[in-house]
Amino acid sequence: MSYAADSSICLERILASTDLSGLTKKDAKTFTQRLKVHFPRLFEHYTYVYGHQYDCYFHLQKLIEILRDGLISRKPALKKIDNERLKSPLWYRDEQQVGMAFYVDLMGPTLNDLHDKIPYLKALGVTYVHLMPLYDAPQGDSDGGYAVSNYRKEKPVLGTVKDLEKLASSLQKEGINLVLDFVFNHTSDEHTWAKAALDGDKRYQNYYYLFDDRTIPDQYEETLREIFPQVRRGSFTFNEQIEKWVWTTFNSFQWDLNYSNPEVFNAITSEMLFLANIGSAALRLDALAFIWKEVGTNCENQEKAHVLIQAFNCCLQIVAPAVVFKSEAIVHPDEVLKYIDKEECQLSYNPLLMALLWNSLATRKTRLLTHSLKKSFAISNECTWVNYVRCHDDIGWTFDDAVASQLGINPFDHRYFLNQFYTGRFEGSFANGVPFAENPSNGDCRVCGSLASLCGLEGALKNDDAQGIDEAVKRMLLLYGVTFSIGGIPLLYSSDEIGKLNDYSYRQDESKKHDDRWVNRIAVNEEDTALALGQTAPSSKAEVASLRVFKGLQKMIETRKQYSVFGHAQTHILDADNQHCFVFMRENDGGEKLLVVCNFSEHKQQLQRSLLATLNCTSTTDLLSGETVSMEAAPLLLAPYQQLWLLAN
Ligand code: GLC
Ligand code: GLC
Repeated sequence: MSYAADSSICLERILASTDLSGLTKKDAKTFTQRLKVHFPRLFEHYTYVYGHQYDCYFHLQKLIEILRDGLISRKPALKKIDNERLKSPLWYRDEQQVGMAFYVDLMGPTLNDLHDKIPYLKALGVTYVHLMPLYDAPQGDSDGGYAVSNYRKEKPVLGTVKDLEKLASSLQKEGINLVLDFVFNHTSDEHTWAKAALDGDKRYQNYYYLFDDRTIPDQYEETLREIFPQVRRGSFTFNEQIEKWVWTTFNSFQWDLNYSNPEVFNAITSEMLFLANIGSAALRLDALAFIWKEVGTNCENQEKAHVLIQAFNCCLQIVAPAVVFKSEAIVHPDEVLKYIDKEECQLSYNPLLMALLWNSLATRKTRLLTHSLKKSFAISNECTWVNYVRCHDDIGWTFDDAVASQLGINPFDHRYFLNQFYTGRFEGSFANGVPFAENPSNGDCRVCGSLASLCGLEGALKNDDAQGIDEAVKRMLLLYGVTFSIGGIPLLYSSDEIGKLNDYSYRQDESKKHDDRWVNRIAVNEEDTALALGQTAPSSKAEVASLRVFKGLQKMIETRKQYSVFGHAQTHILDADNQHCFVFMRENDGGEKLLVVCNFSEHKQQLQRSLLATLNCTSTTDLLSGETVSMEAAPLLLAPYQQLWLLAN
């Protein structure tokens, strides 16, 4: 048996009985051509997961009809972008790319209002916006929108699908890519599929994992991790109405979809294509690590999860090849890497860099950062990192225990220290954070808080400590500076750009107070944007600091965009002869070289100037200060929290 031969016979038969008359002649040709290229892989993946089921081919045929319908609905303007992107597919590695993520209501507050925020985004240099989930969701707690009731309808307070399409096209005209969430591990318990299941419809009950008693849940739970132990123990929820246990990895109202059922794969593909056809440039694959369950494992990062994502990727290549996938795998660094592939996810969050930047700020040491990135930073040239510092979620300390142990760091104790440090329980800590998801059984804990509060601005303002304020601003710029220069798309988390402090108001809101991640979901209002854009003058120490952050980021972004070495280039993580400093080199095919040197401590540091020899030049310029740095023999000096972006002259 040969997959290639089988797949080509299978495709022939499917096409012979598929009605393509709804497609224009040109699209029918495109469709069959793309199927020729991508169907063999789709066939291989689909039959790998579903081949043992008697109705596999029936569902495969249905899937091809779903893809056809997806292409029929794709607007001509988007098909044009498909063709352009096929010609230059690696746009996401470009130095021009700078992202920002935000909730529509915290920035708009509606979709239509966002048109007026485009000048603000452009002033900062943003070219990619990730709108946090805006789909219809249950009233009250909806896990910040990650419990989707309808992928084809927006929350009424935000606007309509038409509004979203209009926004997508305005953004596109301004050179800004739209990124949307593809929340496909689960739906809310108010999705029509879940409602039908609740009404006793067996077909839809099979869309989810429902169990009559605890026998099977107990077996699984022996090896499962608890994601939100503060809201519910275990991963299953008893539903009174149907008297069944439902698999709910996250909140009890988020029902995990059953991907062992090919009908679920097909149905969700149709929703995915709907989101692609709104005009998104990338889809963020939410909680993708959890989509496949295997008894005796932790049901994360399973082989078939990868196969399914690759199958989704094939579907996208056939219908909407301009759209790429962004992996949201907040898991062990070795597992994060496995999602990154041209044929799986072209983009991936970089949770290792994120966590270790915070680690370096707390410890003032860079060994763990350097060693870990030496091991885990390199990825395929056809893919790219999405480098971030903060997001709407908590910070989990997802470094590799083996690397830590090699350095003599006890991983358990060290995570304990980091949690203590960032929740301000460690004496001398500058941070104001909030503990999250503390697990009473095993002591696990994560941290929430805004960039500014975690960097010390909140405490310093409270104590009217001028030096503390200065250091906090420098910490913020240092962390973002690394994301702008190390290689990948830097992703700002909105409200960071103006250094906003923790918002504790969620504690008064019944639907939010049990979920401390709301402390870092912060509105950017008219006063903030006016201040940032220079329309009003700063009138308090807090506002002076905010403006310093905004201007500092703006300057770095401008600089990044001027030099191609920040885009398509290799990254080499280097050893520094000073344990407080982090050093890396960027180098592109044109021979351009950039050396980035960062001081993670509040004291002056020095490095041997021989480090500069890697640049192979007679003098260099620090792009951030504009100063020339000579190659003379004296040590290289760095001010507290200073970073140098050294370009060879
Ligand atoms: C992702 C989201 C997080 C959400 C979870 C479940 O990790 O970032 O906010 O709670 O998925 O959808
Ligand atoms: C866990 C999950 C991650 C999710 C987060 C939500 O860390 O691994 O996917 O975003 O919880 O807080």
